[in-house]
Amino acid sequence: MGTEEQTETGGVATASDTLTITDNRTGKTYEVPVEDGTIRATALRNIKVNESDFGVMSYDPAFMNTASCRSAITYLDGEAGVLEYRGYPIEQLAEHSTYLEVAYLLVHGELPNQKQLDEWTHRITTHTFVHENVRSFMQGFRYDAHPMGMLLASVGALSTFYPDANQIKDEETRYLQIIRLIAKMPTLAAFAYRHNMGQPYVYPDNELRYPGNFLSMLFKMTELKYEPDPRLERALDILFILHADHEQNCSTSAVRAVGSSQVDPYSAVAAGVAALYGPLHGGANEQVLRMLRRIEKKENIADFMQGVKDGKERLMGFGHRVYKNYDPRAKIIKKACDDVFEVTGVNPLLEIAIELEKIALEDEYFVKRKLYPNVDFYSGLIYEALHMPVGMFTVLFAIPRTSGWIAQWLEMIDDSEQKIARPRQIYTGERGRDYKPVSER
Ligand code: ACO
Repeated sequence: MGTEEQTETGGVATASDTLTITDNRTGKTYEVPVEDGTIRATALRNIKVNESDFGVMSYDPAFMNTASCRSAITYLDGEAGVLEYRGYPIEQLAEHSTYLEVAYLLVHGELPNQKQLDEWTHRITTHTFVHENVRSFMQGFRYDAHPMGMLLASVGALSTFYPDANQIKDEETRYLQIIRLIAKMPTLAAFAYRHNMGQPYVYPDNELRYPGNFLSMLFKMTELKYEPDPRLERALDILFILHADHEQNCSTSAVRAVGSSQVDPYSAVAAGVAALYGPLHGGANEQVLRMLRRIEKKENIADFMQGVKDGKERLMGFGHRVYKNYDPRAKIIKKACDDVFEVTGVNPLLEIAIELEKIALEDEYFVKRKLYPNVDFYSGLIYEALHMPVGMFTVLFAIPRTSGWIAQWLEMIDDSEQKIARPRQIYTGERGRDYKPVSER
């Protein structure tokens, strides 16, 4: 099959060729087009034992080897540890850009010029307030409600405040929802935090930048004006950049799948928030902190690692479905840790984390399975240094991921090949049983 260029990594757009398949059940041979290193699963449907046969399906639980879309947003090479948004390496964006500029890049495909950036920033800044009834219903949550649960419910509820959001084919209307979503997520997140702390909600301050305003809504008390520490604001902005998109992960796939029903973007993003809530996805940094606290001191590391190798524990913040190398985001976060700790003082859990990483990177169990630190391994330590309770960690992930979700949603809406997402199944249950009344069972 194919030319030499085509033997490179799967999932990258390349020239087309064909694959010859022989069906040993019938002896028939089929020529299946290979485009971009990929065959179309529907091409397999022509392979049949007889006319009434449904045709061959591909079986791929957990989508281990199935591309669900063509996308020009995020490039990820897990073997090499490369991550690019719209072709720009994550390292350069983290060093030189801001989250709002990156959000523009993800949504529009190009970096903005100054005028475009000013306009984008202005529009987002002036859409940060939420309807007072949003505030009222958020106050109805239990005092100890998980902030991610509150965010999930409240972002979904936004669709009821903007009924025109279901006009997803109307470019102007949907652009307004994009602005609203990026603008209001920090407000909802901060309200959830203040609720959890039993503190009055703080309204947005339009004179502050995006991350600074978020810090203000979280931490402002009696001062007339909250002034964020520029180093902490920058660290938060970097974390937002790093979390903005990560191609077809669990939550993005959820946004695309739910969005494929042509529901409004608030409901689709709520699906993303729900997926991110899980401990194997965005919830992992919360689990990392809990794990580090449980280990408590360096002397307990050996016992813990033995538990991991015996399959009784999982080293949270390690391993990734796609990265089989050091997650480039983890490297940047590790560096940002130093900047934050310069302001806040060192977190003693950092010592345990560094030691765990050192041991894991040399231990055969982890080396053999290509398990490296992922984005969550160090992010929790920074969040804790910023005085965020662990329940807020995933919320801090959801805020910037909103721009990625929405860019992916937009790409899907405009993709003429996309239809409502609807996987097939291999049915393994009983057939044709006769109903029996309960007295006869
Ligand atoms: N600790 C210990 N062993 C691990 C870990 C870990 N963190 N991760 C994977 N392994 C082992 C598995 O037990 C398995 O071993 P085996 O081959 O002996 O059965 C092997 O490595 C492969 O692991 P899978 O679970 O099959 O890998 P998968 O791609 O399905 O899972 C995942 C990826 C879910 C991220 C996994 O590595 C994990 O649970 N990590 C901890 C949670 C975490 O940090 N999640 C955050 C991911 S990044 C993000 O979502 C933002």
